[in-house]
Amino acid sequence: MKIFAVLGSRNQQGKTAALTKALLHGLKEKGAATEMLFLTSVTLKACRQCEEDGWGICHSEGRCVIEDDFDSIVKNIDGADAVIFSTPVYYADMSESMKTFTDRLRRCNAPIISRTKENRNFKPVIGICHAGGGGGGAETCVVNLKKVLSQCGFEVIDMVPVRRQTLPIKLKNLESIGEWLFDHIETGEWERVIPRPKSVK
Ligand SMILES: Cc1cc2nc3c(=O)[nH]c(=O)nc-3n(C[C@H](O)[C@H](O)[C@H](O)COP(=O)(O)O)c2cc1C
Repeated sequence: MKIFAVLGSRNQQGKTAALTKALLHGLKEKGAATEMLFLTSVTLKACRQCEEDGWGICHSEGRCVIEDDFDSIVKNIDGADAVIFSTPVYYADMSESMKTFTDRLRRCNAPIISRTKENRNFKPVIGICHAGGGGGGAETCVVNLKKVLSQCGFEVIDMVPVRRQTLPIKLKNLESIGEWLFDHIETGEWERVIPRPKSVK
C-alpha cells in the first residue's frame, strides 16, 4: 500500500510535519510505504485562468498548461492508494502553497486522478489543519480544505483540526488514525461504488 502526503508548510521540522509523520507512522507500522512532499520545496505557479471564460485546457483536456512541478505531484497522487493533505492554518485558512496546488488540482480532470487504480472508487484522503498561533481558525480551515478536496473528487474520510493546545493529544490520535486507515483501505470499507462518468475512459 502506498500513501502520499502533501504538506503546505515550509517547515520540514515543524508541527505540520510532526502531525503528518505521526499519521504516517501508524500506517508504516502496519506495512504501508509512505512518502512526504513539501509544496514549498517545489515550483508551483498560480493558476492563470487562461481563457476569457476563466477556463483553459484543464477543462477540455484535463491537464494544466503551466510547465512546473504540478504534473509530477499529480503523478504521485495518481499512484497512491490514499493521500494526506496537511497544512498549517494561516488566517483561519490553508497555507498559500496548499491553496495554489489545490486550486489547480480541482480543475484538472480531478474525477480521474482522484480514483483508485481500479478506476472504480474515489481515492481516500485525510486532511490535517494545524493552528499553532492562538489556536483559532483550525475548524474554518478544515471546512475550506474539505470543500476543495471534495471538489477534486476525493473521498474525504477524515479531517483533523489541531490547535496549539491539542497538539500533544492529536499526535497520539493521528498514529491510531494511521493504523485505522490502513485497515480501512485493506478491507475496502470506505468504498462506495459509483458508476464511472462517461468522460472516464
Ligand atoms: C501568515 C500566518 C497566519 C497565521 N494565522 C493563524 C491563525 O489564523 N490561527 C492560528 O492559530 N495560527 C495562525 N498562524 C500560526 C500557524 O498556524 C503556525 O505557525 C503553524 O501552524 C506552525 O506550523 P509549522 O510548524 O508546520 O510551520 C499563522 C501563521 C502565519 C505565518
